[in-house]
Amino acid sequence: MDTIFNAKWIKAPRYRHDAALTFSKRFPAKDVKKATLQVTARGVYNCFLNGKSVTDSVLNPGWTDYYKRLQYQTWDVTGLLKASNKIEIRAGKGWFFHNWYDTDSKIVKPDEPAVIAALTLTFADGSQQVIATDESWGVTENEVRYNNIYNGETIDYTYAPKRPVKAAAIDYPKDILIPQEGEMILEQERFPGVKLIVTPKGETVIDFGQEVTGYITFDTPANTKRKITVTHFEMLDKNGNVYTKNYRSAKALLTVVPDGKVHTVKPAYTFFGFRYIAVKGMKVTDPAQFTAIAVYSDMKVTGHFECSDPMINQLFHNIMWGQRGNFLDIPTDCPQRDERFGWTGDAQVFCKVASYNFDTEKFFNKWLADLRSMQTAEGSIPSFVPVNGKYGDGSAAWADVCTILPWQMYLTYGHKQVLKDNFSMMKKWVDCMRRWAEKKDVGDDFQKSRDPFLHNNHWHFGDWLAQDLPDQEECSGATDHDYIATAFFAYSTSLLVKAGKALGKDMTKYEELYGNIVKAFRKEYVKEDGTLTNDTQTACVLALHFDLVENRDAAAKQLVRLVKEWGHLTTGFVGTPYLLHALSDIGESRLAYDLLLRKEFPSWCYPITQGATTMWERWNGYKPDGTFATPGMNSFNHYAYGAVGDWMYENMAGIRQQEGSCGFRELLFAPETDDRFDWVSASIDTVNGTAAAKWERTGGKIRYTFTVPPKTTAQAVVNGKKYALCEGINEITA
Ligand code: BGC
Repeated sequence: MDTIFNAKWIKAPRYRHDAALTFSKRFPAKDVKKATLQVTARGVYNCFLNGKSVTDSVLNPGWTDYYKRLQYQTWDVTGLLKASNKIEIRAGKGWFFHNWYDTDSKIVKPDEPAVIAALTLTFADGSQQVIATDESWGVTENEVRYNNIYNGETIDYTYAPKRPVKAAAIDYPKDILIPQEGEMILEQERFPGVKLIVTPKGETVIDFGQEVTGYITFDTPANTKRKITVTHFEMLDKNGNVYTKNYRSAKALLTVVPDGKVHTVKPAYTFFGFRYIAVKGMKVTDPAQFTAIAVYSDMKVTGHFECSDPMINQLFHNIMWGQRGNFLDIPTDCPQRDERFGWTGDAQVFCKVASYNFDTEKFFNKWLADLRSMQTAEGSIPSFVPVNGKYGDGSAAWADVCTILPWQMYLTYGHKQVLKDNFSMMKKWVDCMRRWAEKKDVGDDFQKSRDPFLHNNHWHFGDWLAQDLPDQEECSGATDHDYIATAFFAYSTSLLVKAGKALGKDMTKYEELYGNIVKAFRKEYVKEDGTLTNDTQTACVLALHFDLVENRDAAAKQLVRLVKEWGHLTTGFVGTPYLLHALSDIGESRLAYDLLLRKEFPSWCYPITQGATTMWERWNGYKPDGTFATPGMNSFNHYAYGAVGDWMYENMAGIRQQEGSCGFRELLFAPETDDRFDWVSASIDTVNGTAAAKWERTGGKIRYTFTVPPKTTAQAVVNGKKYALCEGINEITA
């Protein structure tokens, strides 16, 4: 068993609620061949041996379902040892303390930071000594006088830490400790400030030119003790002044009290989502005095996309940065306001393109373990995971992440283990929906159909942030929520059947269930002429993309009519990811391109005309008249609508898998060209190597270049003609 299990959890005997703590221990060391440190915290920690940082990752130990799962990290610290040593673990409050915490919990009482660690010294003769946390460690407050994930940090360099007092051992569970599962959270790109702005109100603002998630670093000026405050924000208002209302209660503030010496400031127990900062209390002459550091899970980039239209290239850039900004240990909705939660719907919507852009297998496997851990006894899934409390909300398209995500991971990476790990969660969720659908027990005034296969007896978010209601601020969209729920009930059941079959299981019972749901759906929601009772784009998109209707032609015509009548997309979180796929599938590729290329509100490119460097949460986040959507919910770094990226890889560039393929083992290159582009090029680093597709216009024809990785079969379809491809580079001109 790992030595950390022999250590004791320790905390400060008395705790002044906001300060960060330094736990420390001195020890001699001689003839040590290897030194390994295992450590974790109730809070977030960083760690130093003889003043040198042990951790190259930040915001350790990350965020998991702390009730049952708390990761510890293992570090090789051999190179940092001396004859006499001092180890320091600095801990802040972290995610344990966020305000939605379930205070009734008997299991987790995260009222103050605590740490547990074990340093194992292996000597030249093979013997070992373990230096583990216990009451012999010292603890004191440090110069971080305030820390809070959402509000920021106060670093006071004039504070003289008191002598350490003896730490108190606490009885806190150790059976929740698990070795690191996810990717480490690292400091990644650095952006020196590019523009110094004095706003009309006189605020000193620095623009980093890119919205990032992370924090800033800068040097304090010498010879002054004047307090410096740095406010982080995403947007200037129409007059060019600082706009922070959309952060809601999150203060996102860094406060520094210098002591006259030069210190390189960098917070350690918080992060912010921002493109700009407003600085007070310090003379700024050069924007590059400040650098923004992007912080996110260390995923390898696997996807590339480029084309002849700079606007679409910027869209791809924004999709990538939406992912970088929101894949900080868990897939968050947004990185700035007082949420930053693992919203299940958002992850569901985005997981396909996420897995093309970056290698997300490890990242999502860890989060899937938290989903499993948080699934309720009845089989429902909370709206966000992890949550420090229990909420089994079970909204359609949110909870369905538990079927859609494992299936997508299987499709992208081709490893059956993800299906094995998650099959029972998938099944429990489908069974749960089935019970909800069967149990029409809402009293005598229940007017809806009592068909036991219609999922019409539960609350849902709906087609979140759709633009088809008269009030644009209204969130839940015009598409009937029960329609969406029944469509996803069918879809999740179909994925469960596929997963079961891939695992060699008899799925007859669920195939029958699927058939019954589709029958009920058709009876309730398809009119005699084949059109759908719900006259919305999202309703048509779901019916087509989930293959729920017999008369596809009628649904297709209805969708085309709706897109043309509106003149733009109206879909929200539920319909948007599939909209362009549905149009391409019914042969309306040009219309799909029209929507992609539209620059006016609402559209994917409208935010780009407003200077966006990440995806916005709402189509109407910043309106053409220069006003903002409600500050109650208006993030400028929300990846969900970036789901369009998978259409860019699959349909524009044409990199797809054959039906039934997983891990990109059977490729189908089928680009949809459009005369508004001279060329399109994309690649995905699959488990077997890089699959790439490029098309470019040349003398009235189009030259296609397809790259096929090893151990892969590949076919191309160009102008309706099929070509068998071989490993390596294949060229076709047609
Ligand atoms: C989040 C969303 C989330 C939604 C639930 C919002 O506050 O930011 O992205 O999915 O709530 O509908």
